[in-house]
Amino acid sequence: MASIAIIGTGYVGLTTGACFSHLGHDVICADVDAAKVARLQAGEIPIVEKGLDRLVDEGIRSGKLRFVVGAAEASKEAEFHYLCVPTPQGEDGAADLSYLQTAAAQISAVLPNNSVVVNKSTVPVGSTRVVARVLGRSDVTVVSNPEFLREGTAVADFLQPDRVVIGSQDQEAAIRVAALYSRIAAPIMVTDPVSAETIKYASNAFLASKLSFVNAIATLCEAVGADVNDVVLGMGYDSRIGREFLRPGPGWGGSCFPKDTRALARIAEDAGYDFRFLNEVLQVNEEQFDRTARKIIDSVDAKQAGKHVAALGLTFKAGTDDLRDSPSVEVLKRVVAAGIKVKAYDPAVLAGENQLSRVHPDLVVELVSDPYAAAEGAASLAILTEWDEFTWLDFDKLAEIMAGRNIVDARNLLDPSIPQRRGFNYRGIGR
Ligand code: UDX
Ligand code: UDX
Repeated sequence: MASIAIIGTGYVGLTTGACFSHLGHDVICADVDAAKVARLQAGEIPIVEKGLDRLVDEGIRSGKLRFVVGAAEASKEAEFHYLCVPTPQGEDGAADLSYLQTAAAQISAVLPNNSVVVNKSTVPVGSTRVVARVLGRSDVTVVSNPEFLREGTAVADFLQPDRVVIGSQDQEAAIRVAALYSRIAAPIMVTDPVSAETIKYASNAFLASKLSFVNAIATLCEAVGADVNDVVLGMGYDSRIGREFLRPGPGWGGSCFPKDTRALARIAEDAGYDFRFLNEVLQVNEEQFDRTARKIIDSVDAKQAGKHVAALGLTFKAGTDDLRDSPSVEVLKRVVAAGIKVKAYDPAVLAGENQLSRVHPDLVVELVSDPYAAAEGAASLAILTEWDEFTWLDFDKLAEIMAGRNIVDARNLLDPSIPQRRGFNYRGIGR
């Protein structure tokens, strides 16, 4: 079993560290945030991620998972060094590599001989070379091993992946990294670093394109009177298309798709290729935010002028507490800008805490701790995230407490006949 340092203990780093310790490796996770490290040492999980608490608890008990402050502290004893720090979008659309470079600079002097440094964060094509240059260590190999972890199902995605991609110029280093996954049943693909980095961006940009396509089809369905749910079902039977990632919604978001799609367009531009297709994919997504917001604004009819909208769901999808680049937030910003008040509820965003205002200080909504508290006196109710509990809303109660009977279901979560039977006007996406 190997010794692994994880640098950056966020959604990606913490999952990677906990899963590697579950596979039997000795893992030390480092973070610059001392408060976060103290919580993790006490077995407290700072994020919502299914199954992660059990693995962290197991790792702490077995002694195979430890947490320290500072990258050098973790790296001085390890053989593998996973860089899992943020790579946010810089002002010009390109990924900002400063955290990655800082992390590499912090560990370069302490790396044991023949260490392997692994880029896990999504980094622009050519970043293994950037990290190698900052490290300045001829005995250390830098390898790309991109993550394909969906928040909310990240543990399952790590332990039962569709594939593991390893990008390395050095076959021996690639084999050593591949051995870390020997207990995982999945195809392992070894390629050069530039191809591995491109696989990551191309995968996310393809999935984002698929969603923009589906959302555009939903708009078409509204125009021609088709039902998008049946259309995507019919498409999904074709194994060349597949059933996954065909759910229309208020637009796609999250900490990866928007920044990775923009970054790929920028990578192409820098390489002399105008990847216009991606700009269109991004544009369709902006239009989807606009269109969803317009449905909500229009659902407040003149009789209810001055009444608020109840918004259910704030995170970028169900199963996570992550508010970064959330489509719900994008839509609600537009609704608020139209002069409509919003009371919002999300099971993973606690009222009374500053979780929302920290990430989105410019979104002015009243946060409440129950869907019915949001709906009380509301002109309209908008479902923006597909949390399971929204499927089970009590429409008799909603009919009693709401001022208006309008529902905008931006995730097509409900069977329309259920609210319609109680006299609600129902509007979904593409149906
Ligand atoms: C990050 C990147 O944003 C993403 O592009 C990449 O694919 C994977 O890594 P995520 O894990 O979601 O994703 O980031 P985040 O939850 O923000 O966690 C990053 C952690 O790194 C934080 O805990 C932060 O405190 C820590 N960090 C940041 C360091 O330890 N050192 C630094 O220099 C900067
Ligand atoms: C993504 C990648 O899927 C994952 O492989 C990794 O690279 C990190 O980035 P994540 O950001 O957690 O994962 O979210 P994902 O499940 O991919 O969803 C992204 C967005 O698409 C969300 O806003 C989600 O609501 C939306 N979506 C997804 C849809 O609107 N319809 C779908 O059918 C699927």
